[in-house]
Order: sequence, then structure tokens, then C-alpha cells
Amino acid sequence: MQERCRVLLRFADLIEQHADEIAALETWDGGKTLEQTTGTEVPMVARYMRYYGGWADKIHGLVVPADGPHHVQVLHEPIGVAGQIIPWNFPLLMFAWKVGPALACGNAVVLKTAEQTPLSALFVASLLHEAGLPDGVLNVVSGFGPTAGAALSSHMGVDKLAFTGSTGTGKIVLELAARSNLKPVTLELGGKSPFIVMDDADVDQAVELAHRALFFNQGQCCCAGSRTFVHERVYDEFVEKARARALQRVVGDPFRTGVEQGPQIDGEQFKKILQYVKSGVDSGATLVAGGDRAGSRGFYIQPTVFADVEDEMKIAQEEIFGPVQSILKFSTVEEVVRRANATPYGLAAGVFTQRLDAANTLARALRVGTVWVNTYDVFDAAVPFGGYKMSGVGREKGVYSLRNYLQTKAVVTPIKDAAWL
Ligand code: NAI
Ligand code: MG
Repeated sequence: MQERCRVLLRFADLIEQHADEIAALETWDGGKTLEQTTGTEVPMVARYMRYYGGWADKIHGLVVPADGPHHVQVLHEPIGVAGQIIPWNFPLLMFAWKVGPALACGNAVVLKTAEQTPLSALFVASLLHEAGLPDGVLNVVSGFGPTAGAALSSHMGVDKLAFTGSTGTGKIVLELAARSNLKPVTLELGGKSPFIVMDDADVDQAVELAHRALFFNQGQCCCAGSRTFVHERVYDEFVEKARARALQRVVGDPFRTGVEQGPQIDGEQFKKILQYVKSGVDSGATLVAGGDRAGSRGFYIQPTVFADVEDEMKIAQEEIFGPVQSILKFSTVEEVVRRANATPYGLAAGVFTQRLDAANTLARALRVGTVWVNTYDVFDAAVPFGGYKMSGVGREKGVYSLRNYLQTKAVVTPIKDAAWL
């Protein structure tokens, strides 16, 4: 037990010692800004590993009272071999979210990275080895989805599957698991998260927060605040300021200081996002900023803002996964709850108001796994994350992740000569 803690804590130290190399690798591979990988992602990974290092010797079962002369122990055992499939938008963080709890609970892991971003997982796996993880406990596969990913999902020797990626691929891996050995599956999938600005909001603050909620990581976030609902009383002011903020956004070489937005992950995503922009224009939304590629080389896209977006437009319904903000107008709390919930997704939501009653009402009425009130994208190792509806199955992070990696066994023993007890 103690050794399990030590390995994860040493690993966290090694991540900090190699922070600059890891951050550079992650920026190199995925085009994220170096400020983001250095300032946010690498420190989060170290914090995360310490959190699960702390759990490793505190996982235990129960003794439960039962009717009759029986002693009943409930053992929490490692589930066995965990298969994990991660995406390209946060390669290192997704590695941490998945590997941390699996190792803390004593499992072996086969982790498949995304085609686009194999580097950081390979590098940090070597650090885990250096931290003392025995050979064979963590296996990183840099493979393709339909071959390596599908093989992992349908393998009879894999006891649990954890997947993060698109809802379509999530359905495929769930089906493969069902057709093979019925391994339990946790899924973190897509979203179309509402960011709701009430009429009492400080408009400047709301604009900045809504901007970050959407544009962070080039808009490539499962929980991106991709439907900005703004109350009619502050709508015009909000649109004008959101436009100004998007035009100010610094796009360029992600290694350069001061750059806020790097390139999209690849040509496929780049094309797909520009098609969504075209669809927004064609369906009658008002393009107020951006709308085209940025520069003439690379997969850079201008920070784009649409106003007057209607619920039935494609840009309000589908996950764009790019730097495209859609602003929608609303008048009442009841109306915005109904419209915000009218999507197959349910990952996250932002609520911006100074009124406690409005915040509490919205927080309870929204069918999503995370509600951020007057903030957005705040993540901590201890806080559960996951989706309602088609945004996912199960929760990761915090104590909730441990359940995904443990089996529960009841051991029942008669208590002899119990008659006189
Ligand atoms: P994807 O869901 O296809 O890929 C995610 C992971 O699944 C990768 O490791 C991939 O190799 C693997 N995979 C692909 N096909 C598989 C299969 N048949 N069996 C097992 N594993 C498989 O996502 P993709 O194609 O990279 O992006 C498509 C869209 O998905 C994006 O435009 C975005 O909307 C969404 N997406 C959402 C993410 C999230 O964090 N929720 C992350 C990445 C993409
Ligand atoms: Mg795919």
C-alpha cells in the first residue's frame, strides 16, 4: 500500500522536475499555448497525482451487519486490467484523470492515446517507471482508433473500459464492450454547454468569462460554453463587447509569450469548423467577428462570434469544437432553462448572476454534471466531473473515480455458537 502512494507521489515530483520539457512536448504535439501547458496543465497533473497518491492507502471495504449469525465483510478489490482510451484535446490531463485512480486502486492499465497526440503520455510513462512502477503495470499504446481502440474495447482480458472522446465513438466502444465480456464502461463525451448571463450581471465580467469559457484551448473542450444565452436587457451591450474581446484575442505561434490561441489540432478539425461557420452564415445568424482562417498557413482560425443565433440552427445544436461563439437572446428564467436543457447533451453549464435565488434555481434546473456559478472551467482533483444524458456515463475525479476501478466482494462467514450472543 505504502509503495503505491510513494510511486504516485514520486511521479508527481518528477512531473514538476521535468515541467518545462513536458509542457513543451504538449504544446509541440497539440498546438496549445505554452503559457497554458506550463501555467495550468502540468501543475494540474502533479496535483492530481498527489491527490490519488493520497488515496492509495485509504481504500478499504466494510464490515456490514446482517440478519442471522453471520459475519459479513465487503472487500474492495482492484478490478483487474483497465483499458483506457483518451482524446487529443487534453492528452496529458486525460492521462492523469484515467491513470491516477486506476493505479491508486491497484490495477494494471492499457492506455491508448489519440492518433494526433502520442508524445506526452510516452514521456510521462517513462517517469512513472522511474518513480518505481513495476514493469507491465502501465502499458501505453500509440495506436489508431478503429484498430487498437476497438481491440481494447472488445478484448476479453480487459476488465474495465474508460473512454473520453466523441459521442459517436463512445457508442461504438460501449457496443464493443457489450458484445464481448460486458466490461463496465465509463464515458466522457461531447457537450453543447449553456453559459447563461442574467440581466443583473456585470456585463464586462460576463463577457470576459463567456469568452474564456468558449475560446479556451482553441475551443476544443468537451465542456466549452458553446451556447452563450444573454438576457434581452443586456444583450446589445454584451454582443458589442463580446465582439471587441474576440477581435482582441491574440492568435499565433503557441510558443510565443502573450499568444492566447494556437492552431486547431489538424486539417480535419480545421475544415469541419470552417464548415460550421459557413452553416452559421447560411442559416441567417449574424457574423459579428472573424469567420475565416487566420493567416494563410497552418490550421489557425479567427476568433469568431455569431449573434442572433436561434435554437434550431446547426451551430446551436452540434459540437463545433473550435473558436466559434454563438450568442442567443432570452427573456425569462423559465424560458432559458427550457432552451438550455433542450439538447441531447448535459455536460456543464455556466450561470452568471448576482442573485442567489436565480443562481440556485438555475443550478438545480439545469440537467448537467457541472454548474459553474460566476466562474467557469474550474477543475480540481477532488471535484467529480461527467455528463447527464448523452454527455456520458459515470463520473471521473475525486472519490467518485475510485468506484470505477474497484470490484466489490461480499464474504459471508457463519458465527459459530452464536445462539447465546
Ligand atoms: P474520437 O472520439 O473518434 O476519438 C477519441 C479517441 O477514440 C481517440 O483515441 C481515437 O483513436 C479513439 N477511437 C476512434 N475510433 C475508435 C473506435 N472505433 N474504437 C475505439 N476507439 C476509437 O474523436 P475525433 O474523431 O478525434 O474527433 C471527432 C469529434 O469528437 C470532434 O470534432 C469533437 O467534436 C469530439 N471530441 C470530443 C472530445 C471530448 O473531450 N469530449 C475529445 C475529442 C473529440
Ligand atoms: Mg473519430
